[in-house]
Amino acid sequence: MAELKMTIDKTNRISKINKEIYGHFAEHLGRCIYGGIFVGEDSPIPNTRGIRNDVIEALKAIKLPVVRWPGGCFADTYHWRDGIGPRENRRKIVNVNWGGVTEDNSFGTHEFLDFCELVGCEAYVSLNVGSGTVQEASEWVEYMTSANESPMTELRKKNGREKPWKVKYVGIGNENWGCGGEMNAEYYSSLYKQFHTFIRGAEQQIACGPNGNDCNWTETLMKNIRPHQMRGISLHNYTIPTNNWAHKGSSMAFSEKEYYDTLAHTWHMEKILRDQKGIMQRYDDNKFVGLIVDEWGIWTDVIDGTNPGFLYQQNTMRDAILASINLNLFNLNSDRVKMANIAQMINVLQSILLTEGEKMVKTPTYHVFDMYKDHMEATLVYSNCENVELMPQPERWHPGMQVDHLPAISQSVSVDEAGKMHITISNASLEEDFDIDCAIPRCDYKSISARILTAAYDAMNTFDAPETVSPADYSGVKLNGENLAIKLPKCSVVSIELC
Ligand code: AHR
Repeated sequence: MAELKMTIDKTNRISKINKEIYGHFAEHLGRCIYGGIFVGEDSPIPNTRGIRNDVIEALKAIKLPVVRWPGGCFADTYHWRDGIGPRENRRKIVNVNWGGVTEDNSFGTHEFLDFCELVGCEAYVSLNVGSGTVQEASEWVEYMTSANESPMTELRKKNGREKPWKVKYVGIGNENWGCGGEMNAEYYSSLYKQFHTFIRGAEQQIACGPNGNDCNWTETLMKNIRPHQMRGISLHNYTIPTNNWAHKGSSMAFSEKEYYDTLAHTWHMEKILRDQKGIMQRYDDNKFVGLIVDEWGIWTDVIDGTNPGFLYQQNTMRDAILASINLNLFNLNSDRVKMANIAQMINVLQSILLTEGEKMVKTPTYHVFDMYKDHMEATLVYSNCENVELMPQPERWHPGMQVDHLPAISQSVSVDEAGKMHITISNASLEEDFDIDCAIPRCDYKSISARILTAAYDAMNTFDAPETVSPADYSGVKLNGENLAIKLPKCSVVSIELC
C-alpha cells in the first residue's frame, strides 16, 4: 500500500461552491422526458400530475438544485406555444434532432415548471435563438415570470396558472456554433445582445459559450458583450472514451485500457477550465460572469438494439470515478464555475437514473451526487494531496487532446455554514490502494463519519440487480487530533464528514 501526504487548511477559504454546480440537464431526447420524468396522469406508474413519484423522491434525496430544459439541440427547434393549453389540442411535431420521432408536446412549460416545484429546484430554460424570434423568446419569459397584466399573463392564467413561476436562469440559445444555427462568434454575440435587450423576468441570462476549449469563441463574446449584459457563458464538453465520435466505445463492456483512456480524456476538463477562466479574467476580473458547464459527462455508443437517436447508455463504476473527478474540478474552480449540468438526467448519456416501465434504478453516478451533496453552498478550502501518475504513456494521448496526465487521486474539501468539513476523494487506480496521511492544522473536530463507493471498474446497477454499486458506511478513516488517516482503496470514491 503506497503512502501519500495530504494537507487541508480550513482557514484558507477560497470560494463559495454554488449549489448549481450539482445541476442537471433534461432534453426532449429519447426517454429522458417521456418515460423518464413524465408518464401522464393516466399511467399505472405512481405519479403526481403525470410526473413519476419515484423520480421526484430520488431527485429530492440528492437535493437536486437546478434543471436545464428543453434542450440541447431540441431547444433551437422548440416553439413554446406548441406545449401549452389543453394537451389534446397541442401540436405534434417531428423531433428532427433525436430519432425523427413524433413529439406530442404533452410535456411543456406548465409540466416542466410543475416538475421543478415538486422537486424544489431552480429552473433553467433554454430559449430558441436558432429558429425562433426575439419576440417569441421574450413573450415566453413574460408568460412564465410576469405578475403584471398582459396578453401573455392572461394566456397563462387561462391555462390554469395564476401566479408567475420563478425562472432563475435563461439560456440564449444552445450550441449556436453548431446545431443551434452554425453561427460564428461575432454574429452570435450581436444576436445575443438583441435577445438580451428584450428579455425581462429571469434573474440571469446565459450566453452560448464555446465548444470544448474554443478560446476564440469565448474571447469574442467577452470582448463584444459587456459583463452586465450576461451573467454566464456556457461551455459544453463531453468525454468520449476512444476520442473517436464514430466509435465512441461501449458503456458497459470495455477494457482496463479503455477505462484509463476515458479518465485521461476527462481530465482534459482541468485544462479547459484553466484556459477559459484565463480568458474571462482578462475582461472580467470581478468574476461577475460565471462559467456555466451546462453539458458534461461521458458519451458512449448506444446500447445495442436501442434507437441510435435516443443516446441510451449504461452507467458503471467508471462513470462514478469520472463524475467524482469532474465534480471535484468544478468545486476547485468555483471562483468562476457557477453552474454545471450533467448530461442527461434520465435514460440519456451519463444519467443518474434509468427507468424501464415502472422500474427505476439509481446509477453509480447518482450515488456520487448523493455523496457530494454537502458541498453545495459551502466554502471551498485549500487542500493538496501528493499524487501518482497512472500510466503516463505518451502514445496513449490523442493528438490535439492536450492531456498530459492522469492522476490517481482527485479531491476537494469544503466547510459549510455550521462549520462541518466535507472531503470528497477518489482513487482511479485499478492496481493500487493508498494510505493517506492528512494533516489538518488547527483541527478541532471531534467526530467523523465516512461513506465509500467501490466496485469493479465495469460494475453497474441493472433493473434485476439495482444495488450492485451502492455506497456503504466506511470505517477506513480515522481522526487523531490534527491528523486524518484515510485508507483509499483502488477504484473508489470516499466522502468524509468532520464535525
Ligand atoms: O446532450 C446531447 C446533445 O449534445 C445536446 O442536444 C447538444 O447540445 C449537444 O451537442
